Amino acid sequence: MENIIQSNFSLKSHNTFGIDATCEAFINIESIDVLKAVLKYNALPIQILGGGSNILLIKEYYPQLFIKNAIKGIRIVESSEDYVVVEIGSGESWHDFVMWAVEHNLGGVENLSLIPGTVGASPIQNIGAYGVELKNVFVKLEALHLQTFDIQTFANEACQFGYRDSIFKREKKGKYFITKVFLQLTRAHHTLHVEYGDIKKILSEKSIDTPTIRDVSEAVIAIRQSKLPDPTVIGNAGSFFKNPEIPTDKFEQLKQDFPQIVGYPAPSETGEKRVKVAAGWLIEQNGWKGKRYANVGVHERQALVLVNYGKGNGLQIKQLAERIQASVREKFGIELTAEVNMI
Ligand code: FAD
Ligand code: EPU
Repeated sequence: MENIIQSNFSLKSHNTFGIDATCEAFINIESIDVLKAVLKYNALPIQILGGGSNILLIKEYYPQLFIKNAIKGIRIVESSEDYVVVEIGSGESWHDFVMWAVEHNLGGVENLSLIPGTVGASPIQNIGAYGVELKNVFVKLEALHLQTFDIQTFANEACQFGYRDSIFKREKKGKYFITKVFLQLTRAHHTLHVEYGDIKKILSEKSIDTPTIRDVSEAVIAIRQSKLPDPTVIGNAGSFFKNPEIPTDKFEQLKQDFPQIVGYPAPSETGEKRVKVAAGWLIEQNGWKGKRYANVGVHERQALVLVNYGKGNGLQIKQLAERIQASVREKFGIELTAEVNMI
């Protein structure tokens, strides 16, 4: 096994912020059997790594074994006239899987096109975009318990999905390695979500009245490319903060002082009326958009995205995030919480 574990390994090309931290040991895992064997014999603390598109490395050196997930495979395990259930190896690229679904005219994930990272990380924060969340198509996942090495199954309910949230960010954090994800996609009678303004606009510009799955996917890709910086060009991890959800009466109060404030009714499990506020707007109003401090900054087109211009480190980005949080707290009385996992 030693020959496949690499020592003093640079993580620069394994995190989309492009931060040059080093770990004591690194291994690429292509099967569950190898994963089990590694976990059995390894003595170092471990860190699971997918595509590194939702982490911020705040240390320079990690005395840890980084386990990079490369467990592959996509296959249809159930099929009816209207639906299929697909089993996906957790190390598959999420976007490649979406492209596979589009290619096979299977519906449900097209609005989630171009989200970076692996399929295995997708349930952790219940990835979402353009009116769709993973939980809408999620059937179950299989995960290896890191202490007992049992494979356990978590159905949709058991994952306790919320907005950018699941049980794997709370009680079960750090306890499992997700190995397989099962999603249900439509084969016929697709329900397309085109209500997002920009999607509608692109479809009408192309004079598309009855869009296909591919049309929606292409529209989403075009919007994302116009708004979000490409991590291969400029280091980032997408939205750095979540959009905060605040009580409706607080939103109405803020609206008196800031009539332009952007917010949408938030779905609520408790029945309490809440508004999801656009964090990008709050940050932009405080003058951060496009600000650069040496090697790090706030993106010029999307204030919710913090960027590394190349030589920045995780601590500099963390400090910038804290300054942004303090200014939003002071001006609006709203607490921003990080979406990105700082490790
Ligand atoms: P990593 O960053 O590698 O890991 C994230 C966390 O999950 C870590 O704590 C890691 O230990 C854990 N983890 C990873 N794999 C496993 C596993 N198999 N088992 C157990 N734990 C695991 N997110 C959205 O929801 N919507 C968006 O629209 C969106 N847009 C983005 C745009 C850009 C340009 C970027 C860079 C990111 C964006 N993201 C978005 C965030 C990111 O793509 C997702 O959070 C993605 O699911 C992270 O996947 P990953 O494999 O890179 O995870
Ligand atoms: N806005 C500003 N200034 C900015 C950015 C945004 O005023 O600099 C305001 C605008 O009014 C805009 C609104 O915020 O209309 C919403 O902006 P956008 O459509 O860009 O979406 P977002 O709320 O910033 C969220 C997700 C994204 C997801 C998109 C599309 C979160 C934290 N972010 O961004 O997810 O792709 O919607 O659904 O929920 C991610 O999680 O990493 C991510 C990129």
